[in-house]
This record gives sequence, structure tokens and C-alpha cells, in this order.
Amino acid sequence: MDSKKSVAILGGGNIGLAIAKGLETSRLYPPENIYITRRHVDQLDEFKDKGFKITGDNELAVKNSEVIIIAVQPKQLEELLAEISDAVNKDKHILISIVSGAGIKMIKKIIGKNVPIVRAMPNTAIAIQESMTCLSAETKTDSSLKVARKIFDSVGKTMIIDEELMVPATALCACGIAFFLRAVRAASQGGIEIGFHSDEAIFMAAQTALGAASLLVKTKSHPESEVDKVTTPRGITISGLNQMEHNGFSSAMIKGITTSAEKAQLLYKKE
Ligand SMILES: NC(=O)c1ccc[n+]([C@@H]2O[C@H](COP(=O)([O-])OP(=O)(O)OC[C@H]3O[C@@H](n4cnc5c(N)ncnc54)[C@H](OP(=O)(O)O)[C@@H]3O)[C@@H](O)[C@H]2O)c1
Repeated sequence: MDSKKSVAILGGGNIGLAIAKGLETSRLYPPENIYITRRHVDQLDEFKDKGFKITGDNELAVKNSEVIIIAVQPKQLEELLAEISDAVNKDKHILISIVSGAGIKMIKKIIGKNVPIVRAMPNTAIAIQESMTCLSAETKTDSSLKVARKIFDSVGKTMIIDEELMVPATALCACGIAFFLRAVRAASQGGIEIGFHSDEAIFMAAQTALGAASLLVKTKSHPESEVDKVTTPRGITISGLNQMEHNGFSSAMIKGITTSAEKAQLLYKKE
């Protein structure tokens, strides 16, 4: 990436700041080329001290950047878009919206210009370059997708999907972080009951979860073929696993994901 180019993150909250940290560590953009905005700018002193450009002026951030990442909550989106629409230049800017449920057509309509727009759905592991980010544009050949992919490839893994699947992607990948974290916490609670201190149990459970996920990502094998390798006939693993299934383990995860997807679908009904 041209180090003279700048990115503006409009909405320095949980995910906006995670993106800022990820981009800084990836060295794709130095902090002085990253604008972060929010209304309560006093909350961003830590980032100001690190050299990021902090401002409450969204228009200023847009005017001084080429890539605009919109990271406000759905209910804050329209006001923000109205605020920046005059400063947006269709020949200079690429807008990347990570706002759950907000469609490309709707964003374009409010901006009132034919600016390239990409929808992105990262997760908070972006702060440590381990995000699963889904991307979509109006067509899969949009050149703006290339720019967005370069940014998000530097902070994790990316997949280009149809726009209609962006809401389901929110449930599986963005909410998914919480689902897997809760699974690790549950495993650690089991670990405490069988004899480990809390900090030991969380570390052991988290590293085991990391190992399981890495087996799938690195070898591209199917989860069940890895399960087969650790379940011997009449063995201890299959007994524990079946006990979890009798209590609805897989079913709970599936129902949680479908419930989150249904709720995400209702977030933005204005198109
Ligand atoms: N959290 C996740 O894991 C995640 C993952 C993927 C996508 N998302 C999406 O990302 C968006 C943000 O989520 P979040 O969890 O980061 O929410 P959040 O922590 O509430 O962050 C939103 C930020 O936007 C700022 N803001 C609000 N209005 C603004 C304006 N007019 N100009 C500039 N900044 C403004 C708020 O700060 P002030 O009140 O100080 O302005 C706040 O810091 C949501 O649409 C969500 O669907 C979240």
C-alpha cells in the first residue's frame, strides 16, 4: 500500500479500534496515516499517544483519506452518512462499511453518489491479525474489492461472498467470536472442577481450542476426521463427547447461530 495514502475509521469503538490496532501491527498503514473519529474524542487518548490522527470531525477525516471504513452502530449510520456525503468524492474514495445489515444500495442512496462501496464483516480478532473477514460488493469484479481484500488480508483471512450472505456471515463470524469464547470458558470451568486453577484452566482450554482450529485451517481436514483420531472404541473421549451431545452441544451452537442471524436480519429494514 502506498504509505502516503490514508485510511479513515469513522467510529472508534470496539471494532473500529480493533481494526486500527490490526492495521498498525500489519504495517500496511502507519498510525499517522490512520484517522480515527468518534464524538467523545477524549476516549481515544491512548491512540493519540501512539500517533494515530484523532478527530471528532468526520468530514476532515474523509477529505484527508482515500479509504473510508464506516464502523458506527446501525442506528448511527444515517446521520454519519449525511454528515460526510458532501466530502465524498466518487473518483477518490472507496467506502468500506462494516455496519451489520446496512446494504450497499441503501448507503449509496443516502450518499447520493456512485462511489465504490464494499461491505466487510470482520471480527474483533482483527486486532491480532486473526480476523475472518467476509467481503462483498455490487459485483465480484469490482476493483474496490481488490483494495478491501488487500487491507483485510493484512489482518487475517478473507472470503468474498454474495451480499445477501453478509447477514449470515455476521452471525457465524462476528458473533462467532463470542460463541467460541464462551465454549473456552465452559471448558475451563470443567477444568477447574477436575483440579486446575482458573488461570491454568483457561490457558489450557484456549491453547487446546487454538490447536483444534489450527488443525482444520492448516490441514483443511474435516472436523469429524480429526474427532475420529481421538475417539477410541469404549474410550474416554467418546464418552465425554456423547454426554455433551445428549445435553444438546451441537444443537445449542446451531440454534444460537440461526437466532443471531435472524436478529441481524432485522437490524436494518429500511431498504
Ligand atoms: N463488535 C464487533 O465484533 C463487530 C464485528 C463486525 C461488525 N461490527 C459492526 O460494527 C459497528 C460498530 O460496532 P461496535 O461494537 O464497534 O460498536 P461501538 O463500540 O458502539 O462503536 C461505535 C462507535 O461509533 C462512534 N460514533 C457514533 N456516532 C458517530 C459519529 N457520528 N461519528 C463518529 N463516530 C461515531 C461511537 O463513539 P461516540 O459515541 O463517542 O461517537 C462508538 O465509539 C456496528 O455496526 C456493528 O454491527 C461489529
